[in-house]
Amino acid sequence: MPTTLAFDVYGTLIDTHGVIAALERHLGPSAGDFSRAWRDKQLEYSFRRGLMQQYETFTVCTGQALEHTCALFGLSLSPADRQQLLDAYRTLPAFSDASEGLIQAREMGFRLFAFSNGPRDAVEALLTQAGLRHHFIDVVSVDEVRSFKPDPAVYAHFLRRAAVRGAEAWLISGNAFDVLGALSAGLRAAWVRRTPAALFDPWGTTPTLTVEGLTDLADRIAEAVVPPKPGRKRA
Ligand code: 2OP
Repeated sequence: MPTTLAFDVYGTLIDTHGVIAALERHLGPSAGDFSRAWRDKQLEYSFRRGLMQQYETFTVCTGQALEHTCALFGLSLSPADRQQLLDAYRTLPAFSDASEGLIQAREMGFRLFAFSNGPRDAVEALLTQAGLRHHFIDVVSVDEVRSFKPDPAVYAHFLRRAAVRGAEAWLISGNAFDVLGALSAGLRAAWVRRTPAALFDPWGTTPTLTVEGLTDLADRIAEAVVPPKPGRKRA
């Protein structure tokens, strides 16, 4: 069976900081800091809910994290403005290399899935409006097991849904915590390190491979799956 690739969505295919333009109206030059604080709190809420086994969807985590971040920044939003920001989150843009990277991966014959913390409907709609949905065999959501990455149960769920063993599946993610979670659950994992400022956690484990963007990915995975013959240099 061809190698299976599970693409993380928020922070890998889709740029969560695409919301900065909508935030600038309220926050001016602090919009970037607000966006990062919102994203960090959203993930923190998902981690805590997973540990506490108090599941609410990632959409709820996103809304509650927005409320917390508004309080932190002293920003008071009208219900209409709040809704506008949450709508902006539903129409976030793809990273500029996403489409080309996915085309290359399909052309190499890999099996492509989207695998996200987001609920299935939200992820389907997000990928469709970003022009990426048609690249995937299916969307697998952690919502189906009511927990969040990096709970080992959600990676096991992905393997069941994709009908594949861990040794034949790769997680592709820009989120270091997701890469560590997948490796710990027996998958291989590629870390998309788009900027040198992105740091990997010093836990004594390294990604199976690291790429600078999605257009480097397909070749590198093909090489890792079937290493080139000795003496042949990588182009
Ligand atoms: C995702 O699952 C981790 O937010 C990231 O899409």
